[in-house]
Amino acid sequence: MLSEAHRAVVKATVPLLETGGEALTQHFYRIMLSGYPEVRPLFNQAHQASGDQPRALANGVLAYARNIDRLEALGPLVGQVVQKHVSLQVLPEHYPIVGTCLLQAIREVLGPDIATDEVIEAWAAAYQQLADLLIGAEEQVYQANAEAPGGWRGARRFRVVRREDESEEIVSFYLRPVDGGPVPAFVPGQYLGLRLEIDGAEVRRNYSLSAPPDGTQFRISVKREPGGQVSGFMHQMAQEDFELDVFPPAGDFTLQASERPLALITAGVGITPAIPMLEAAAREGRTVHFIHCARHAGVHAFREWVDDMAARYPGIRRFFCYSEPRAEDTADGTGFLTREHLEKWLPQTRDLDAYFLGPVPFMAQVKSHLAALGVPGEQCRYEFFGPAQALEA
Ligand SMILES: Cc1cc2nc3c(=O)[nH]c(=O)nc-3n(C[C@H](O)[C@H](O)[C@H](O)COP(=O)(O)OP(=O)(O)OC[C@H]3O[C@@H](n4cnc5c(N)ncnc54)[C@H](O)[C@@H]3O)c2cc1C
Ligand code: HEM
Repeated sequence: MLSEAHRAVVKATVPLLETGGEALTQHFYRIMLSGYPEVRPLFNQAHQASGDQPRALANGVLAYARNIDRLEALGPLVGQVVQKHVSLQVLPEHYPIVGTCLLQAIREVLGPDIATDEVIEAWAAAYQQLADLLIGAEEQVYQANAEAPGGWRGARRFRVVRREDESEEIVSFYLRPVDGGPVPAFVPGQYLGLRLEIDGAEVRRNYSLSAPPDGTQFRISVKREPGGQVSGFMHQMAQEDFELDVFPPAGDFTLQASERPLALITAGVGITPAIPMLEAAAREGRTVHFIHCARHAGVHAFREWVDDMAARYPGIRRFFCYSEPRAEDTADGTGFLTREHLEKWLPQTRDLDAYFLGPVPFMAQVKSHLAALGVPGEQCRYEFFGPAQALEA
């Protein structure tokens, strides 16, 4: 139980976290990933190398310490972490490992003069409170996923039943359960967790669902990343009949019911969750402005499908912007997406819902352009294809 004295100590450590939180979480990951091999497969090593994951955790811990008196102020952060954890199957038995390593890291980074017994005891109690909150919320999602029609808990074996090249660097994989049963109706924008064994080691990754739900199969579309472990493996090895473990759909970057016009603004492989979103919005008769950026037509996935949707539904307008167009390419704009492009391509009203996803610098630009054009911040939603981070233009 977290006492008043514990809260006071935790709040007093906020300034230390503001300056040294990242060093602390980096040290924490070093301790955990070297000492506890059982949790290593859950983490994407590239996110450790880039520092994005330690940074995301440091920001989460800082937000928690700042709001220790009013946890409701953490708002969407908790939901986002819960969904990410569930998608990768973080389980209650993992929490004591993280707790032990976090306290060890606090001791070693802050040193005995600052990390006194009182500080360690307060943080142990605070960690337990947060862990209990996350474990409880995660169990609710696991249970809901298991009880949904076609749903399940934990890993389920799926088979690649079809592959399709979507561009020079993106391949779609159609996945069906090996048990022949149905799959749940996910919400457009959600993603799967995959578990694979590569060179004898287990790895997990998230991939957005890139086709509308149909109750029988899932589709994911994977861009081959230079030097990428899982994407390279999927492109090369995951031919028809290849089997892999899948965790149920998760994620809260989901299309919300609304009467407002919708802008879907994506770049590169960030287009994947926008495909089921576009289909759902079109069926509801919503006005949709679909804006997609790619280097050129050769790497532009789903162009024909989007063109076809725009031809079939009068409410859909689509705009394509190429930063490195080839001589034969046609696009509505060239170069990187600018405020002027958006001014031209967004609906007349700024009272719209905008969803955007792409490389982080693209997202930072889009966020800033939308704000400058008067789109209300609370009507802008976005997701990261990696650990969450601050978006600064
Ligand atoms: C919610 C969500 C949805 C996603 N949806 C999609 C999707 O629909 N389609 C899609 O293609 N991707 C999607 N992703 C991204 C996907 O999960 C993977 O991150 C992506 O496929 C890269 O994984 P990888 O194993 O191929 O590359 P990794 O092996 O993780 O490597 C990524 C990059 O980091 C470099 N790297 C790796 N290790 C190190 C190291 N130790 N030091 C320095 N550099 C290193 C690699 O060379 C490479 O350039 C999504 C991610 C999330 C979180
Ligand atoms: C109180 C404890 C914890 C907190 C505050 C916390 C916080 C976070 C945060 C903020 C993120 C980033 C979310 C995002 O970017 O969307 C994250 C991701 C993640 N967490 Fe936790 N977490 C906790 C416990 C755990 C535990 C016990 C495990 C399992 C060992 C775990 C495994 C993961 C993994 C695998 C990711 C994704 C990493 C990646 O993308 O590489 N977390 N967590």
